Amino acid sequence: MNTILVTGSAGFIGSNYCRYLLKNYPDCIVVGLDALTYAGNLSTMQDLQLTGRFRFYPGRIQDDCVVAGIIQSEKVEAIVNFAAESHNDRSLMDASSFIQTDVTGVAVLLEATRKFQLKRMLHVSTDEVYGSVDDGRFTEQTPIAPNTPYSASKAGGDLQARAHHIAYGTPVVVTRCGNNFGPFQYPEKLLPFFISRLIDHKKVPLYGDGSQVRDWVYVEDHCGGIDHALRHGNPGEVYNIGSDAECTNLEITHMLLSLLNRPESLIRSIEDPRGGAHDRRYSIDASKLKAMGWSPAHAFSSALESTVRWYLENEWWWREITSKPDYLSFIKNYYGRYLQSDL
Ligand SMILES: NC(=O)c1ccc[n+]([C@@H]2O[C@H](COP(=O)([O-])OP(=O)(O)OC[C@H]3O[C@@H](n4cnc5c(N)ncnc54)[C@H](O)[C@@H]3O)[C@@H](O)[C@H]2O)c1
Repeated sequence: MNTILVTGSAGFIGSNYCRYLLKNYPDCIVVGLDALTYAGNLSTMQDLQLTGRFRFYPGRIQDDCVVAGIIQSEKVEAIVNFAAESHNDRSLMDASSFIQTDVTGVAVLLEATRKFQLKRMLHVSTDEVYGSVDDGRFTEQTPIAPNTPYSASKAGGDLQARAHHIAYGTPVVVTRCGNNFGPFQYPEKLLPFFISRLIDHKKVPLYGDGSQVRDWVYVEDHCGGIDHALRHGNPGEVYNIGSDAECTNLEITHMLLSLLNRPESLIRSIEDPRGGAHDRRYSIDASKLKAMGWSPAHAFSSALESTVRWYLENEWWWREITSKPDYLSFIKNYYGRYLQSDL
């Protein structure tokens, strides 16, 4: 698989996976496709363009002609799909684009994989499709039970993948991972949102009592897991990816305060805007992929430290985004009444 189409290449995990491929496979040509929504930025791919082995096409995954044209002209052998509407909070305001991209878009990519007889498609999904678990862990056998429009649309994409494999034998593999963190994450998501605000000595809005448990994975480990499943996974199967790094949102907020040497008074507890749709706990059992030879390479605390350092050293990247009208109006609409003058 020397020519790989990476959809969502201008986003957080997609761009990191492009970096992973270019670094680990010297003969690999990486073809990026991204709709450049509010979450996709050309600046995120600047370093990729310099390699000479990365080509980028702006476009939407649900446009079958665009997808077919790229596959044929670039002689694509496999697709790895990261393109998605990915923010739970935005899905609670309007879910229509989530359904178009996360369900219809996935179906278009599956159909292209079948029609052009590609070697493999890997669909990147999330642990959120399993819903919430109070005790125990999600295995690949756990029934899906999504609780937000975002996780329901992701589950819809997963079901399209399953059906395509059963109906047509399409060689698709699905991965489901926990909360990622690392460089180039759009700064409305919890970690980069809090880091960027704490750098500026601003308050951080913590939902409810902050007791929601998330299973954190460093983005490079997620990329390694995806790549392992792409090359060694069985078509039609699902693989969980996790690092055994569970902690509450309150705990991770305290870690950030400590790494940035900021006072506890910067935490502002707010009413949970997700209400009953806010899952209490995610917990991933990744033993299936581990039994196939993959394991995470980074310890949680040192990866968190290097992530904070990255945001300190790359203010040029996130300040350009946090000064854009879309970002500013989302933050104002969503958090304005809590943060008021401290926006
Ligand atoms: N971030 C996480 O913690 C996490 C965890 C597990 C799984 N995932 C999954 O990984 C994938 C990538 O997540 P992310 O955090 O990098 O998201 P992101 O929002 O940073 O990036 C998504 C990218 O997809 C692009 N895009 C959106 N709609 C498109 C369309 N119709 N056609 C083409 N491109 C489109 C956007 O422009 C953006 O560049 C998603 O499928 C998400 O569900 C994310």
